[in-house]
Amino acid sequence: MSELTLAIIKPDAVKKHVIGDIISHYEKVGLQPVAIRMMHLSKSAAQGFYAVHKARPFFDSLTTFMSSGPVVVLVLSGENAIKKHRDLMGATDPAKADKGTLRALYGTNIEYNAVHGSDGPDTAQFEIGYFFPGMDLVTR
Ligand code: PPS
Repeated sequence: MSELTLAIIKPDAVKKHVIGDIISHYEKVGLQPVAIRMMHLSKSAAQGFYAVHKARPFFDSLTTFMSSGPVVVLVLSGENAIKKHRDLMGATDPAKADKGTLRALYGTNIEYNAVHGSDGPDTAQFEIGYFFPGMDLVTR
């Protein structure tokens, strides 16, 4: 089943100049970019995006990091895109991520972990609407 998921190339990965490398990984596993925006999130935009985590101890640190520099936000389309993308990203903590996954390759620690991906269909719908409101997205 073809579906859409939201990906973010986080400020640490943008600073490392690996935007192209990461997009190349998406394409190699059949995750086709159908929308792309580069943006510098405000703290409040990051807080809105991560609102589900607002009670977590790392909320302030995470939203400060995510608003610390430009990010690349993408909608990816493909067969089982949500799970395929989560598998490609690897575990939240790069030290625990499988070899070859994006977080193992490009992440530094549990906060500076290079990439974000929607964790389920409801989250994907919310997250895509958050950054690409009202857009008629192509499915590839
Ligand atoms: S959970 O249990 O699945 O909801 O949590 P998880 O996916 O592991 O983490 C949710 C997001 O919070 C980030 N995170 C952290 N940031 C800073 N410090 C610490 N300790 C920390 N732990 C988790 C994690 O990178 C997730 O961000 P996204 O953007 O969703 O990948």
